[in-house]
Amino acid sequence: MKKILTFIAALMLCFGLQAAEKKTIRISTNDIDLILQTSPANRLYQVYFGEKLSSSADFSKFDWKVKPGSDGSYGERGHEAYACSGTEDSFEPALAITHADGNLTTYLYYKSVQQKAVNGGTETIIRLADDQYADEVTLHYVAYQKENVIKTWSEIKHNEKKPVTLWRYASGIFYLNASKYYLTNYHSDWAREGQPATQQLQFGKKIIDTKLGTRAAEQSEPFFELGIDGPARENEGTVMLGTVNWTGNFSCTFEVDNVNCLRVIPGINPYASDYILKAGETFKTPEFVFTMSNNGTSQASRNLHDWARKYQLWNGEGTRMTLLNNWENTGFDFNQESLAQLMKDAKDLGVEMFLLDDGWFGNKYPRKNDHAGLGDWEPTHTKLPGGIPALVKAAQNAGVKFGLWIEPEMVNPKSELYEKHHDWVIEQPNRKTYYYRNQLVLDLSNPEVQNYVFSIVDKLMTQNPNITYFKWDCNSPITNIFSPYEKEKQGNLYIDYVRGLYKVLDRIHNKYPKLEMMLCSGGGARCDYAALKYFGELWPSDDTDPYERLYIQWSMSKFFPVKALAAHVTNWNKNTSVKFRTDVASMCKLGFDIDLKTMSPDDYKYTQGAVANWRRLQDVILNGEQYRLISPYEGNHMAVNYVSQDKQKAVVFAYDLHPRFQEPLLNVRLQGLDPNKTYTVKEINLMPGKASTLDCDGQQYTGDFLMKVGLNILTANEGTSHVLELQ
Ligand code: GLA
Repeated sequence: MKKILTFIAALMLCFGLQAAEKKTIRISTNDIDLILQTSPANRLYQVYFGEKLSSSADFSKFDWKVKPGSDGSYGERGHEAYACSGTEDSFEPALAITHADGNLTTYLYYKSVQQKAVNGGTETIIRLADDQYADEVTLHYVAYQKENVIKTWSEIKHNEKKPVTLWRYASGIFYLNASKYYLTNYHSDWAREGQPATQQLQFGKKIIDTKLGTRAAEQSEPFFELGIDGPARENEGTVMLGTVNWTGNFSCTFEVDNVNCLRVIPGINPYASDYILKAGETFKTPEFVFTMSNNGTSQASRNLHDWARKYQLWNGEGTRMTLLNNWENTGFDFNQESLAQLMKDAKDLGVEMFLLDDGWFGNKYPRKNDHAGLGDWEPTHTKLPGGIPALVKAAQNAGVKFGLWIEPEMVNPKSELYEKHHDWVIEQPNRKTYYYRNQLVLDLSNPEVQNYVFSIVDKLMTQNPNITYFKWDCNSPITNIFSPYEKEKQGNLYIDYVRGLYKVLDRIHNKYPKLEMMLCSGGGARCDYAALKYFGELWPSDDTDPYERLYIQWSMSKFFPVKALAAHVTNWNKNTSVKFRTDVASMCKLGFDIDLKTMSPDDYKYTQGAVANWRRLQDVILNGEQYRLISPYEGNHMAVNYVSQDKQKAVVFAYDLHPRFQEPLLNVRLQGLDPNKTYTVKEINLMPGKASTLDCDGQQYTGDFLMKVGLNILTANEGTSHVLELQ
């Protein structure tokens, strides 16, 4: 046998067929290694993904092949860095192309690699190409060492004689080898966002995806938590958190194959999206962002929070404004005078901004309810005779900033825009139209429509440069899918829509870099990482019942820094105290959307104090490290603490939801403090005239004691809350 092999090798040498030298590509952070290697045939395989390896001495010993079955089978099958359809691997591919001649197979060969320093990390760029077709794929991986976050995307382009059709175009593909895998995905509905569901992944596929187009995350969130070897736990075990940066149809496929290897394939959902790509054009996938931790989800979340604040979130390291919104208070029923009064109320409450919600626009078809007006972004003269300038002036007089609600991607059939530009609307030409909230979606694949949507913000800003904030809403999914603009390329619409949206947002961003925006989508139907680039805040849910919020905020904080999560005090669930509602909202970016006149004098006074406390502590809450201490999913209480980056300060929030009779009340053990520092504990957000009932109030403790013994702050009283400031 040995003789035969030597003979073959000699023969190969004679004919210049020497196997290409094995190339190793290492993509690593402080704690993670992702290692790729070329095979003798010069194809690229993932040979390792997991905890960082301490030495590269053994890297030559990696085996690119899938471990053979007992009969030595599987041939040339390995974990290809960007698996393609039609190769030896018959599991889910990352890429599938119908070439100009109808061929469905793609084989990618390694061409080159480049590694360079980028802001905060190292980018690895790998070029792969087909040997039979003029198709090329470039894989990008940016590894952020300190935050242990890797972001990856791919670029597909070709030079074939005719357009090709892409039907799989993942952002990347990752293979895990472990005994067991547990996926926690988050499903949603209106007012029920971020509901976790955990299951063991076994042979076959589990796909989390959406087909809603615009309100993409209404039913399924674009992020996941993966427990490796066991279900994900808060502070122990190996866990991967990942999210697809795409404000549209995403998909994440988890497939366990015949040898118990799990492949994770994140990207755009190819549903109804066979994408026609012309020669010379580049198809860039969305980014997939992920982290891994060997100390459970808590650490993984902090990795994402730190990374997002530094590299993804709009003004991630800046401050946020507290605000008073009028939606839950007035609905559509307001006028210039009542708004001017609310602005004064906002000032008196102590918040920095007044936000005018829906119902300020439309003249031929005034927006009196949600049946008309979307598309006509002129203030309703009868309601607001002085227009936006008078409102901006009133805000200035009151001493608050002014923010405005818009829903610029939408149109009501009852609008002048619809009458003038029917061809700008996504709607079936030959079927009966159905409506979601009485509205339709504008066709943002069309550059003319992009110009129009940009002009809505541009015009408002040109005429009123003192608008400081927009609440950008999106209350309908894409319905009646058909684009007059895309013509025979209807499969491109879902994708070109999102790209069109980003073009508009980029223009706004470039022209008004300081303009702050919140992204809302009938609640939290658009909470995704791509949006963070343009929006300083996301609205996680219309559900502001504080009990429900504790669950929603718990889930959302696994992925998003609380700086990006707006939380408003409202009159949802009036059975709870104003204090409880405010303390719950104070865990995120605090705001109010409530008729302040419904509050008792004591509640109002309490609220003013809570706003002042929040503003004073915003640096700890929004820029500190978050530690989730007690999960509402595991009992009748919830607790979280935030620690400033220098560990000098901390804020603790503890809530009693629905405690059981004589339930044992355990101490809340804090996390993330400096064990050697001494902290003074002070209860804040107390009702006027009430002293703290907690034994720990005013006491000093070492960080060590607070973390090992903890504080007795839970109670058996339904709907109570305690906020502690530690110095
Ligand atoms: C959506 C939002 C609400 C409010 C209304 C206005 O439902 O989630 O906060 O802005 O639209 O129509």
